[in-house]
Amino acid sequence: DWTMDSIIEDSVAAIREKVGEDRVILGLSGGVDSSVVAALGARAIGRQLVCVFVDHGLLRKGEPEEVEAVFTEQFDVDFIRVDARERYLELLAGVSDPEEKRRIIGTQFWKEFFAVAQQLDGVKYLAQGTIYPDIIESGARKTGGKASTIKSHHNLIPFPEGVSFELIEPLDHFFKDEVRALGTALGLPDHIVHRQPFPGPGLAIRIIGDVDAEKLEVLKSADAIVREELDAYNERLFQETGVRDSERSVWQYFAVLPDIRSVGVMGDERTYARPIILRAVESQDAMTADWARLPYELIARVSSRVVAEVPGVNRVVYDVTSKPPATVEWE
Ligand code: XMP
Repeated sequence: DWTMDSIIEDSVAAIREKVGEDRVILGLSGGVDSSVVAALGARAIGRQLVCVFVDHGLLRKGEPEEVEAVFTEQFDVDFIRVDARERYLELLAGVSDPEEKRRIIGTQFWKEFFAVAQQLDGVKYLAQGTIYPDIIESGARKTGGKASTIKSHHNLIPFPEGVSFELIEPLDHFFKDEVRALGTALGLPDHIVHRQPFPGPGLAIRIIGDVDAEKLEVLKSADAIVREELDAYNERLFQETGVRDSERSVWQYFAVLPDIRSVGVMGDERTYARPIILRAVESQDAMTADWARLPYELIARVSSRVVAEVPGVNRVVYDVTSKPPATVEWE
C-alpha cells in the first residue's frame, strides 16, 4: 500500500545517502529484524551489502540452512557464512554465569564481523537490526535511568578493543509489528517474518550451567520436537481464529536443558539421565508473560516423543510460572 511504499522509499534513500559508494556489512542472525535490514539493504545498495551470517552453533536445528537458503536464493546480496562453531564452544567452555555467556557471545560477534570487514579491505559500516524498543532500553541504561536491565541484550554489548564500525540502524524508529509489515512488503517469506523471538545468545542461555557439544545436541533434538508439535498446534489455532502474531495463543515455546540428572527406568534398566523443561508462554510484548495453558494431550505427546526420541533424556517437566516473577528464558 501507499504508506508502506513511501516508508520503504524513504528508508532506501536514507541508506543510499549515508553509504555512498562504500560497502556495508550486515550481521545476519536469521531473526526478523536483521532479515528485514537485509531485504531493505538489498533494495537500497544491492551488492554493496555483504550479509555475514556467523554460525555460532547455538541456533536451533535446521536454522543455519534456512537462513542460508533464503539469502542466497531469494535475494541478490553477497552472503558469507562464517563457521565459528568451534571458536564459540572453546570460548564458552566451563562458563556457567548467564551474563558472562552473553558477554562472551556478543563480544565474539563483533570480532567475527570485524575479521570479515578486514578481509574485505576495511569496510567501514556495520548494519544492524536494532529496533526502537532496543534503543529505549539502552538509553535507560546509558543514563543510569531507573529502567533497570534485567538481562543484557547481545547487540548492545560494547565493541571490544581493536574493533570499530560506524553503525547503520535503519529500523531504529520502528516497533516490531511495523518491522514485520515492512518484511512482508519487501518479500520476505512468512516463516521469517512471523518467527518467534529467539535470543541472540541462542541455545547457550537455554543450557543451564556450562555449554558443551553433547548438551547442545540433546537440546537441539528436544527443541526440534517441541517446535514441531507446537508449530502444528499454533497453526490449528490460527486456522480457527484467523489471527497470528502477538495475538496468537502461544507467543514463544522451546526446550530448556537444566544442569541436573534424575533417576528413571527403561525396560528393566535403571537410568540416570537428563530432564528437559518445556517452556511455552503467552504474551503481547515479552515484558510480561503467562504460562500457556496447553492441552494435556499436547504436553503428553511432547513428553513421550522427547523421551523416546532423544537419547540421554528420561523426563520432561512443564514450567508453570509466569513473568513476573519468572522470566521467559531460564537465564
Ligand atoms: P526474558 O527472559 O527477559 O525475555 O523474559 C524477554 C524476551 O527477550 C528474549 N531474550 C533475549 N533476546 N538477547 C536477545 O536478543 C538476549 O540476551 C535475550 N534474553 C532474552 C526472550 O527470548 C524473550 O522473548
